[in-house]
Amino acid sequence: MRICFLLASVGVAVAETGIDAWLRYAPLTGSSVVHSALPNNVVVLNSSQGSPVYTAGQELHNGIKSIFDKSTRVCYSKETKSALVVGTVAEYEKVYGALQNVPELAPDGFWLDTTGFNIQIVGQDERGALYGAFEYLSMLAQGNFTKVAYATNPAGNIRWVNQWDNMDGSIERGYGGASIFFANGTVVSDLTRAAQYARLLASVRINAVVINNVNANSTTLSAENIQGVSRIADVMRPYGVQVGLSLDFASPTEGVQNPVVHNLTTYDPLDESVVQWWTNITDNIYSIIPDFAGYLVKADSEGQAGPLVYNRTLAQGANLFAKTLEPYGGTLMYRAFVYNLLNESNWTEDRAKAAVDFFQPLDGQFMDNTVIQIKYGPIDFQVREPTSPLFASLRETNAAIELEVAQEYLGQQCHLVYLPPLWKTVLDFDLQVDNESSVVRNIISGQRFNRPLGGSAAVVNTMLTNNVRLGSNLAMSNLYAYGRLAWDATQEPEPVLQDWIRLTFGLHPRILSTITQMSMESWPAYLNYSGNLGIQTLTDILYTHFGPNPASQELNGYGQWTRADSLSVGMDRTCSNGTCYSGQYPPKVYEMYESIETTPDDLILWFHHVNWTHVLHSGKTVIQHFYDSHYSGAATAQTFVTQLASLSGLIDSERYNEMMYRQLYQAGHSIVWRDSVNDYYYNMTLIPDDHGRVGHHPWRIEAEAMALDGYRISGVALNETASNKSAIVTVSNSTTGIATHIIDFPSGRYDIGVNYFDLYGGVSNFSAYVNNRKLGSWQGNAEFTLGHELTYFLDGNSNTRHHFFDVDVKEGDELKIVGVPDQMEAAPVDYVVFLPVGSGIVD
Ligand code: GCU
Repeated sequence: MRICFLLASVGVAVAETGIDAWLRYAPLTGSSVVHSALPNNVVVLNSSQGSPVYTAGQELHNGIKSIFDKSTRVCYSKETKSALVVGTVAEYEKVYGALQNVPELAPDGFWLDTTGFNIQIVGQDERGALYGAFEYLSMLAQGNFTKVAYATNPAGNIRWVNQWDNMDGSIERGYGGASIFFANGTVVSDLTRAAQYARLLASVRINAVVINNVNANSTTLSAENIQGVSRIADVMRPYGVQVGLSLDFASPTEGVQNPVVHNLTTYDPLDESVVQWWTNITDNIYSIIPDFAGYLVKADSEGQAGPLVYNRTLAQGANLFAKTLEPYGGTLMYRAFVYNLLNESNWTEDRAKAAVDFFQPLDGQFMDNTVIQIKYGPIDFQVREPTSPLFASLRETNAAIELEVAQEYLGQQCHLVYLPPLWKTVLDFDLQVDNESSVVRNIISGQRFNRPLGGSAAVVNTMLTNNVRLGSNLAMSNLYAYGRLAWDATQEPEPVLQDWIRLTFGLHPRILSTITQMSMESWPAYLNYSGNLGIQTLTDILYTHFGPNPASQELNGYGQWTRADSLSVGMDRTCSNGTCYSGQYPPKVYEMYESIETTPDDLILWFHHVNWTHVLHSGKTVIQHFYDSHYSGAATAQTFVTQLASLSGLIDSERYNEMMYRQLYQAGHSIVWRDSVNDYYYNMTLIPDDHGRVGHHPWRIEAEAMALDGYRISGVALNETASNKSAIVTVSNSTTGIATHIIDFPSGRYDIGVNYFDLYGGVSNFSAYVNNRKLGSWQGNAEFTLGHELTYFLDGNSNTRHHFFDVDVKEGDELKIVGVPDQMEAAPVDYVVFLPVGSGIVD
């Protein structure tokens, strides 16, 4: 019997909100020949509705309809006409006979062959079949009709993402709007977005998502919430995406509302009642969600409860959960992010050593279904860190790398930072364990130490949430690339990026070259203006993790110290004279970092404490390198605006406008970064910039130097975060402020930037005039449009720039800024800059 259907098509992209990300399947023009060469039939082998293979059939049908406007018949049994056949190896061989010349497939792997009468998309399992379907569609959507026949297998079986969503609907370090899973303490009723998210994840071969914050809340385990989690699992299952949960170690004592457990007075992992408590919870979860992925545990870290409270080891804590998961094949991801607060006055204390100190002695004591999840560097998702030495220290324990797509310290999706070049510095790093090749990607895949489990996890906030407005289109390249690299970390960042560009924005060569260039330049640029030479991201580490605040690194227990003073800077992590963090690496790597001669410039301040006048391998002094790289990084960020502008008309206006809004923001904020950091170290060292730029801003009119009416001069939270250390604010929250100044720059055309502060707690209105000619108005409304962490202060987080381009200005014209405050935002202004058009000056 032949069972075929002409399906109604869904999912054709109409409005370009960006919600479909790289799965738009936009119509390909000029492809009619190929269209007729595509089979008319899709054969979906042995799929029950809701299974990944069934989904594969739907995707193939819908994708081909959308790309080529061609309706295929979807059949659920053998078809004699030429067809696109999708299914598992077992089903394929049952129906069509043995597959010829197919290399061995691992779980989730697939075979794609477009060379024969039938197009074969055959997965080792259902998930593999779906991945193969997405792969084939990705080729078609990119206009790639090459005949291919190849098998591909994942490098690691752990390809997870971690959502840091809270039960109240907020997201820890989430910059794209509210949770798509939770609100008001429970799972939301409409899970449409969760299903769309699973589809995106599956298309890049992510196989599980931990849906709640690592700083977990025990209420997730209530009977009602586990039912809710099971609904999430139901909408993700058709995409082969499993659901996992973060746990709060102290849950047994926290009154969880679930009849399978009752409240205890202890959470000691060796206490029988605690073991039973977790066994009951796990049994209960698996009875409702049989394909539950497992747990993620953050314990004894940043205020979270853990086994150390009861003098038990981290391994004893981990095994408590691992044992309950074992009968079900569940996985325990146990985080290595454990550290204590430290004392900076002690020269040898070092947070970077914590993970190895805690975990290395426990190697071999974790159960086989446990994976230690290790942040890529030893501190915390910084703009550059050396590879965590813990990867070299666990030989009898499974390991996975933890990356952060969310850009917490890297611009919070308001700065374009394409992350794979950063990730590759770690994934491709050779730790040379036992003097043998020990590249991180081969350690986490399990290959190097012959471990059964391993892979990657990435902290993601969904970015394109229900509030599409907060989503960053360009930031989606990081999620896409994360999945691609989790599958195969040998891939290079640029070709992966280019697949994403074609899928997201179409095939126009100018789009491809421009977004490639912007993206590939973006991490080096951000590194240059936010934290070069291995000093870490010089952001506000105590609060927002967003804008510049170098002073915040010091004089607290968090151990992200730079030890900067008027003469010198950097952490001495050598064994000869410092914290001996270098000694945590295998001998060859240790030797490289122990010596200042062989430490690469880009990590010099991570490993060595040097004078500001120390000459780098590059020939520059440390301080001059700081000045130059901050100027060059910010200059590159300015070019992102012009580069993107060259794509006007080639990209739909919705997405173009959203991208331009963020690039303009980054252009302005990169200058805030540049000046804050440079001024801070100039004020500390009094060493002048060889090029005379730092502290000299000939094209600026300081707001405090203008004639003020209704405005008054104000200091700022950190001097260097305002030009000339001060700004203006309205005298009250109901007074309109007016600031005027006679322009004494030569007559000509100028790009004008107004630096103002955009805080929480009000939407001020600003207008700018030249000789009473209104240039335009804007609002201090970043809290509704950008999604990064804001502050209530005038500081490096809130300082930003509004731009007017190509304005005709005459010497003697009057500049006027009018600020209307709102609530506690007193229309604050820092300065106005006049940049002669075409001069290349970035002041
Ligand atoms: C960072 C981040 C925290 C997070 C922590 C973690 O410190 O700022 O919000 O909880 O990492 O990874 O657990």
